[in-house]
Amino acid sequence: MTAAKRTLYLTTPIYYVNDIPHVGHAYTTIAADALTRARRLAGHDVFFLTGTDEHGQNIERIAREKGISEQEHCDRIAAAFRELWQRYDVRYDRFIRTTDEIHKRGVLRLWEKLRVAKTPDGRDAVYSGTYSGWYCPRCEGFKDEEELRQPGNVCPDHERPCEWTEEANLFFRLSAYEGWLRQTIESDTLRIRPESRKNEVLGVIQQGLKDFSVSRARVKWGIPVPEQPDHVLYVWVDALSNYITALGFADDAPDYRHYWTGGGERLHLIGKDIIRFHCLYWPALLYAAGVPVPTREFAQGFITREGRKLSKTTGNVIDPVALVERLGPDAARYFLLREANYGADWDFTDQAFVTRYNADLANDLGNLVSRALTMVARYCAGKVPPRWQAPLEALTGPPFDFTEKFARVVAVPGSGLAAKVMARYEELDFSGALGEVWSWIGQFNQAIVQTEPWSLAKDPARRGELDAFLYRLLEGVRLVAVLASPVVPRAAARIFSMLGLGEREPDGHDLAWGRLEPGTPLGTVAPLFPRVEKANDAKENPVSESTPPPAPKPEAASPPPQGAAAAAPDRIDIGEFAKVELRAAKITEAEKIAGSKKLVRLQVDLGGETRQVVAGIAESYEPAALVGKTIVLVANLKPAKLMGVESNGMVLAGSAEGKAVLCTFDSSVAPGTKVK
Ligand code: MSP
Repeated sequence: MTAAKRTLYLTTPIYYVNDIPHVGHAYTTIAADALTRARRLAGHDVFFLTGTDEHGQNIERIAREKGISEQEHCDRIAAAFRELWQRYDVRYDRFIRTTDEIHKRGVLRLWEKLRVAKTPDGRDAVYSGTYSGWYCPRCEGFKDEEELRQPGNVCPDHERPCEWTEEANLFFRLSAYEGWLRQTIESDTLRIRPESRKNEVLGVIQQGLKDFSVSRARVKWGIPVPEQPDHVLYVWVDALSNYITALGFADDAPDYRHYWTGGGERLHLIGKDIIRFHCLYWPALLYAAGVPVPTREFAQGFITREGRKLSKTTGNVIDPVALVERLGPDAARYFLLREANYGADWDFTDQAFVTRYNADLANDLGNLVSRALTMVARYCAGKVPPRWQAPLEALTGPPFDFTEKFARVVAVPGSGLAAKVMARYEELDFSGALGEVWSWIGQFNQAIVQTEPWSLAKDPARRGELDAFLYRLLEGVRLVAVLASPVVPRAAARIFSMLGLGEREPDGHDLAWGRLEPGTPLGTVAPLFPRVEKANDAKENPVSESTPPPAPKPEAASPPPQGAAAAAPDRIDIGEFAKVELRAAKITEAEKIAGSKKLVRLQVDLGGETRQVVAGIAESYEPAALVGKTIVLVANLKPAKLMGVESNGMVLAGSAEGKAVLCTFDSSVAPGTKVK
């Protein structure tokens, strides 16, 4: 008997149809698609759901303004979402709309269960009451007085005045689920990540949870409450239910039983703006109704521009259609998932998009593929060379050590590179997974330069070494394509075709080493990612414009360089790097700078010399915890004054989940040591 496959039910938020899709929507949906593909590669049974949230006051208003029916408006925008996902090569299993009959029936079934539900302390989970409070029609939610901006009782998210509202409503007794929620979240029975978000949710519980109203009198475009037909169900109860209604909750359908109650993983990808609804309201509603709760929720960070929230009013939106048309779907997917840690906020720039495209895709990956295939075409008559013809002792020296390691260690299923990359995908660490793959791409490119296959080819006695090296190189290229395929599926299929494996997407069997059969003719070699030549091209054709330039056509591009690594104009040479003096520095004193939340004044020992440095790390480190650490200092920066305090150097740090993480050493280094 074979073991049952691990199941994953994966969802994105369902997006409001107030407006056309936004880059934030693309960000979550691409992440979900990449995770789906990665988990399928690992042999798991995945169901991926996305869709649209179509009820509520906003839609009533917009449809009225446009002079069309609500349904017509929803149909148009839902079609725009589906079309966008097609452009991004997103393959969901179902697209749920809250106006679908299957959804409405499912919501009513959940409601029937809630109407008779009892809280853990034996009271009715749903009760009648009167609500009075500040209501934001754009949020479709009530706001606490303290949240509002004054004057004008303005919603901080929508920058519009809230309305004072009094309604006879039905309420859900959320307050009765505090203890259960705390325990469920603390124990990771519902695993909320990043960790900082879990703490945020626990903090909200700590402050005390308020019951919330679950019906609305003023809204017409929604699902009528059966026992109060002049009310509709609160839009968030309606919307959250999509995660089970889409699987056929109304009819206890096989998909519902398989993916929701079947004991597998139930994972919601969300944004940090909707954590309260997903991590408090939703699990409590489900628990009250006797339905299993999600097992995991991951909140992605927000994309900003020049540090500001994307907004039509500010005019800094990023058009997801322009983004995908700019350099094609693989490039856009790669950039969004590689550029930042998935849980952290980050700033989008057109320049960074083009730089990453040129450096990682055109240069690193594109050149590796093109060189490997061109050499096989030239030296092996375009056929996969024999696996092994050289005596083992001939295969020594760094390039062979490296490829040997790759063949014997890295590619071992379950423990090598593949397992490491898959584990990172599983944790939604897309940037880490890709970073890992790209580090191997770099090492393969280096191994080519060191081995000089063109020199081996001149000496017939070294034929075996040449074949062995090229075979391993091709296998490396193949595995890189497999492991990157969740993010760049088109490129992976094209690499497979060039390797003579047919234009298909990799599957789990492809993760094993040695799948290339010697003697197989290779396909036609074509450039994967033609360079975008003008470094400032992005400035001229930014993705924030609504009329983007056409994507470059691969066949019109010049072939990428072969042989030795080509110098990329956006990279620096070693001489430029050498101008930067990096030194190990030991922190001897640290104190916060009065009046600044971020800055800390450090005294550092540079091996005999003491320096004062100002660093923006106060939000991530307590001063006392800094003393004694040996960090990396840019030692030859011109002095600068920060909040009136002189700084003689800069401390190097990365960032994770919005917090600074200092660069340190993994074993002891003397203060003053040069870092290179
Ligand atoms: N309809 C609700 C969700 C209901 S789920 C049961 C909703 N929709 S939304 O259209 O506003 O989309 C919200 C999601 O879009 C966010 O949670 C986030 O995932 C994504 N983003 C919207 N803007 C974003 C950025 N600027 N950056 C990253 N993602 C953001 O809320």
